Amino acid sequence: MVKYNVVFVACFPLILQLRVNFLYKILIREDLTPNIHLFEIEAPKVAARAQAGQFVILRHGETGERIPLTLADWDKTRGSVTVVFMEVGLTTSKLALLQAGDDITDFVGPLGLPTHIEKFGTVVCAAGGFAVATIMPIARALKKAGNRVISIVGMRSKELLFWEREVGEHSDELIVTTDDGSYGRKGLVTEPLRELLSDKDAHIERVIAIGPTIMMKYCCLTTKPFGVETIASLNPIMVDGTGMCGCCRVSVGGVTRFACVDGPDFNGHAVDWDELIARQKAYREEEGKALKQWQCQRTGSHEWESAHG
Ligand code: FAD
Ligand code: FES
Ligand code: MG
Repeated sequence: MVKYNVVFVACFPLILQLRVNFLYKILIREDLTPNIHLFEIEAPKVAARAQAGQFVILRHGETGERIPLTLADWDKTRGSVTVVFMEVGLTTSKLALLQAGDDITDFVGPLGLPTHIEKFGTVVCAAGGFAVATIMPIARALKKAGNRVISIVGMRSKELLFWEREVGEHSDELIVTTDDGSYGRKGLVTEPLRELLSDKDAHIERVIAIGPTIMMKYCCLTTKPFGVETIASLNPIMVDGTGMCGCCRVSVGGVTRFACVDGPDFNGHAVDWDELIARQKAYREEEGKALKQWQCQRTGSHEWESAHG
């Protein structure tokens, strides 16, 4: 027994070194909007295999929860991967406190099937919110494959717009919409989408929609009467990301599929959107409490204890 202890103590610096080597360093942090942040993370093995439409599952801290984030970019030479995330709850708020030089504990990927890319003709890429970042590599890959790419990006307001230039660089045409009309066209992405589909000269062959679930649902409802194939990148709650837990199950064409391994891209016209929306809300109460408790702990407020004992 003493012999094993001696060996362990002798090897401890090596064990520590191996553990340290598995951490994923944040090389660059950028605040794209007040609540949307970009991390470029050192992850050479993920970068080496990355393809448009795939995602990673990351975890920060030994007791942190696992969350999926789509690849917004990657650099095989630099060995880095870029993710863009929006602060919506506990884990994304904790992540937003990290700075360049900090490490992420686990960073697994690339996961999921890449977006199907071939020369289709004219493709519309519609994105809303944080997904403006994740549509960029898809627009880039479609353009590289010889497609005419029309991108439509929608935000609530001008201050929330980011990566207009990055998406524009890989698009033949870029349409920006804002809900309040503070920039670009006033209205939702579905309006220019409907106009393009109605324009016989535009010859839209395919639509790819990424963003909030409700936005993807309405993009699919808009394209359905025109019979234009529409791919949506589904975002159900995920845990393992490898097809084991069943948490990410979605119904597509009446068949149960696991978004993490069978997707995340699916034929948007066959998705049971209402079921997906209901499943996304399954833990809203617990998520809200966890965020509130953490916020109270950070600010030293006793509001949470007095309300929950
Ligand atoms: P919580 O308060 O815990 O949750 C807020 C809401 O986020 C929940 O009600 C639920 O609908 C959803 N959510 C919570 N936990 C998960 C989970 N483990 N998996 C999926 N959704 C969850 N967001 C981005 O900002 N950028 C991205 O690039 C991005 N890519 C995604 C790719 C995929 C394949 C999926 C499935 C989701 C993606 N998301 C992305 C959503 C992101 O994972 C959630 O916003 C995040 O997990 C919320 O965690 P939270 O603890 O901060 O919020
Ligand atoms: Fe567990 Fe997809 S996340 S099966
Ligand atoms: Mg959470």
